[in-house]
Amino acid sequence: MTVSIKVPTPNAFTRILSVGAYSPSRIVDNDEVCLKIDSNNEWIVERSGIQERRYAAEDESVLDMAVKAAKIAVERAGIDPSEIGVLLLASCTYPYLTPSAAVQVAAQIGAVGIPATDISSACAGFCYGVGMASDIIRSGNAKYALVIGAEKLTDWFLDDDRSIAFLFGDGAGAVIIGPSDTPGIGPTVWGSDGTQTAALGIAPSFIEQRKDPANNVPMLYMQGQTVFRWAITEMARVAKEAVDAAGITVDQLDAFIPHQANNRITDALVRSLKIPEHVHVSRDIVTSGNTSAASIPIAMSRVVSEGSAPSGGLALIIGFGAGLAYAAQVVTLP
Ligand code: UT7
Repeated sequence: MTVSIKVPTPNAFTRILSVGAYSPSRIVDNDEVCLKIDSNNEWIVERSGIQERRYAAEDESVLDMAVKAAKIAVERAGIDPSEIGVLLLASCTYPYLTPSAAVQVAAQIGAVGIPATDISSACAGFCYGVGMASDIIRSGNAKYALVIGAEKLTDWFLDDDRSIAFLFGDGAGAVIIGPSDTPGIGPTVWGSDGTQTAALGIAPSFIEQRKDPANNVPMLYMQGQTVFRWAITEMARVAKEAVDAAGITVDQLDAFIPHQANNRITDALVRSLKIPEHVHVSRDIVTSGNTSAASIPIAMSRVVSEGSAPSGGLALIIGFGAGLAYAAQVVTLP
């Protein structure tokens, strides 16, 4: 006799129900950054668009920021934390390999016991999380998902490193994803190129550090031009594929919320995609710097709170970075 296994009842569609963000209070402008590197405000603004960024306090952790953003998203969704069926936390700067940051955030927001895990896809991590969470909910394995991007990049570079010290900031953003009567999250276009690990990452390993603690301190490294060229060519193609996969055209978008890597990368993507004037383009990098996995939810929270695009409007999100990894989808704004 054939025995059939029971499976969850799937949900047809999903959407982002709410977004929350937390940025540390300390504002660091370009003049302050230039006290430690041979650079100037004009160069930084021209090459990256950044005017200032937020630095976490010394005793303020990735977990602290993640919890603050998560609580806002949960409250705005109007759900009880115990209803969260899965928590995915994207970060490349959480300084412990295990246990995950996600299980601790779950505990701190009052959701002890829920499935929770971290995503290691750097600046693409938030969009990886949105795609995975959406598919988990569609499968029926969870009703609500909490997806967080949280980073304390300032722990991982020296303030006198001219190649990157001006670029990065700290912060966290989070969304609640749940079932929907209508499609609210389009297909995820995602991938990676593991031949390009030399372009961006954190090295050496903790094991190498044990051999020479003073000289082998794990730090962020980046071949800026390599990443820049890859982003403006390959990511234009990926973004277009995400729009096509969602069955819409760019002029039907209300917002474009790319990873806040560099305003010149955003400009190039806007040109390649021929994004029309009426589409709001996120430029949160100007005041937040590059916050890796946190940059998209922080920028999305700003779009929603400032009303730059309507609730229910369509936004194209795309994350890209170390891996080199990328993920993009069209979503309905909460
Ligand atoms: O989020 C993860 C993904 N990361 C990214 O997407 C970052 C992608 N890359 C970038 O955003 C850009 O490559 C940077 C903003 C990091 C750098 O801009 P760039 O236009 O690629 O600068 P560059 O490295 O080509 O350097 C151009 C010039 C050089 O001088 P010469 O050789 O032309 O005389 C550098 O020495 O600028 C000089 N330079 C600086 N000058 C003032 C490099 N860093 C600085 C600096 N201040 N901080």
